[in-house]
Amino acid sequence: MQPLIVAIDGPSGVGKSTTSKRVARSLGIPHIDTGAMYRAIALAGVRAGVSVDDEVRLDEIASRARIEFVPDSANPRVLLDGQDVTEAIRTHDMSMAASCVSKLPAVRRVLVRLQQAMGNLAGGVLEGRDIGTRVFPGTPFKFFLTARPEVRAARRFNELKEKGSSETLAAVLADTTLRDTQDSTRADSPLTWNESYLLIDTSDLSIDAVVAKIVGKVTAGASNFLTPS
Ligand code: DC
Repeated sequence: MQPLIVAIDGPSGVGKSTTSKRVARSLGIPHIDTGAMYRAIALAGVRAGVSVDDEVRLDEIASRARIEFVPDSANPRVLLDGQDVTEAIRTHDMSMAASCVSKLPAVRRVLVRLQQAMGNLAGGVLEGRDIGTRVFPGTPFKFFLTARPEVRAARRFNELKEKGSSETLAAVLADTTLRDTQDSTRADSPLTWNESYLLIDTSDLSIDAVVAKIVGKVTAGASNFLTPS
C-alpha cells in the first residue's frame, strides 16, 4: 500500500496553512509546509550574502541545508541546520525573497526531491503551489484553495496586525498581488490547477467547513492507502 498524500495548493492568504495543519491532525499524518522550505533557503541565502537570483550558489545552499519540521501541535517549529527559524522566515522580506528563490529550477529540483522523500516516508498533508502538479501528481487527493483577492489581503492584513505590524491594507494587497503574479507566471512549476483537483473557494467559508470538506473527501477514498493505525 502507498502512503496517504494529500495535496493542498493555492495562492497566499487562502487559509492553506491553518487548513492543512488541521487536516493533517485529523488524519493523523504529518503536515509538510513546502512554502516554509523555500523560505528557509531564502533566509540561508540572505544570511550568506547571496543574491536571490544566484542559482549556482543557492543550489549549493539548498543541497547542503538541513530543514526539519518539529511537529508539536501547540507550537510547531521549523529548523534550519538545527537552528529555530520559525519566526525569522515569516517576515515580509522573506516572503518576497522566497518567491524569488522559488523561481530557480535548481532550487526547486532539490526541494521537490526532499518533499517527495518526506511524503514517501510516512505520508502527509503537503501544502504549497505545485504539490498536485509536480511533487505528487499521482495522488487522488488534490485540493486547490482560492479566495477573492481582497479577502486574501484582508486575512493577511489581520494576521500581520496581530503580530504588531503597521503595514496598511493597501500595501498588503499590492504585495499579495505581486507575489501571486510572480508565483503564477514563472516558467518552472507555476501556481496552477487542473481538472484533477477539487477547487474550493474559501471566501465565504469558515475554516471548519473547509477542513470538514477535505477530510470527508479523503476518508471516503483512503481505504487503499497506508494510514497510522
Ligand atoms: O506558502 P508560502 O507563502 O509560505 O510560500 C513562500 C513562497 O514559496 C511563495 O511565494 C511561492 C513559493 N512556493 C513554491 O514556489 N512552491 C511551493 N510548493 C511552495 C511555496
